[in-house]
Amino acid sequence: MRYLMEVYTDERAQQQRLEEDVRQGLTARQKSLPPKYFYDRAGSILFERITELPEYYPTRTESTLLGEIVPGLFRDFFPDEIVEIGSGSSEKTRRILDAVSAGGRTVRYVPLDVDRQTIESSAARLIRDYPALSVHAVVGDFERDLPHVRPPSGRRLALFLGSTIGNLDEPARRRLLAGVRGLLPDHRDRLLLGVDLVKDVKILEAAYDDSAGVTRDFNRNILHVINRGVDGNFHPEAFRHRAFYNAAAARIEMHLVADSAQHVKLGRLGLTIRFRPGEGIWTESSYKFTRESVESMLATAGLTLSEWHVDPSNYFALVLAAPA
Ligand SMILES: C[S@@+](CC[C@H](N)C(=O)[O-])C[C@H]1O[C@@H](n2cnc3c(N)ncnc32)[C@H](O)[C@@H]1O
Repeated sequence: MRYLMEVYTDERAQQQRLEEDVRQGLTARQKSLPPKYFYDRAGSILFERITELPEYYPTRTESTLLGEIVPGLFRDFFPDEIVEIGSGSSEKTRRILDAVSAGGRTVRYVPLDVDRQTIESSAARLIRDYPALSVHAVVGDFERDLPHVRPPSGRRLALFLGSTIGNLDEPARRRLLAGVRGLLPDHRDRLLLGVDLVKDVKILEAAYDDSAGVTRDFNRNILHVINRGVDGNFHPEAFRHRAFYNAAAARIEMHLVADSAQHVKLGRLGLTIRFRPGEGIWTESSYKFTRESVESMLATAGLTLSEWHVDPSNYFALVLAAPA
């Protein structure tokens, strides 16, 4: 069978979790929402537009770097299976699939993402374009559902690209990497991790606050998701997009800031949330890394850095890691 999909996002459980996350996040002193709620269909499309913006260097830098390292990567190591965590459109993955499926070699690709529609449409395109590929898609939450990924058939390469790992805070990163380590049972298995690096603040801040306002729309989209999910009456345009680099914590923070006092009703939760003028909702962190911070993060999960590849500007790194 060339295409199989497993879905672990039971709708009722997902609704319950959304309600708990919103209640907890919006009643805390520092209001916040988990960034996974950015990614409904509209959010995924906006994210794809972000990746094409001139200010947004990570995707094109990572993609070029991937193209450069792929031939060397598969000189000594050839995977039978590729598991991709937070796969999204799988566009960059093509650089890898081109190499591993060359000559009609059969490879299994296991994309895992929360957004079912995105995974379905990208899987359909991959099946069409790679005749030797079988796709076993998993719709689920990478913070919970990694144990559902079936044991590998042969050598496995896990991919976690786009510096999505930077959206998790330290304890969550550690848990996630421990889960990824569990996906690599053989000492010859590998993880390829994309990480955005600490750099000039101006470059970092522009990447999260583009002149065309696409990141603003992406940020506000989370309020549309919440309105739909808990019968809310947020006016997303009444919230200003704010993105800044917090150097002490080595992270970009994205917030949505109420320009004026707001009372927002969340019908399904029986709650009214009040905002003072200038009060914000923290919607995303994007941590930035150095080689040292990556090495120590990997070590906590029983992984060791085996290759470190950076672009000439030192903006982005692709890290090949092995079970320690
Ligand atoms: C920053 S995008 C990166 C997409 C792609 N890997 C790339 O590099 O362009 C993050 C991706 O992870 C997915 N995602 C975010 N949180 C997730 C979660 N908790 N579980 C599974 N997927 C998640 C999103 O749907 C989105 O496709």
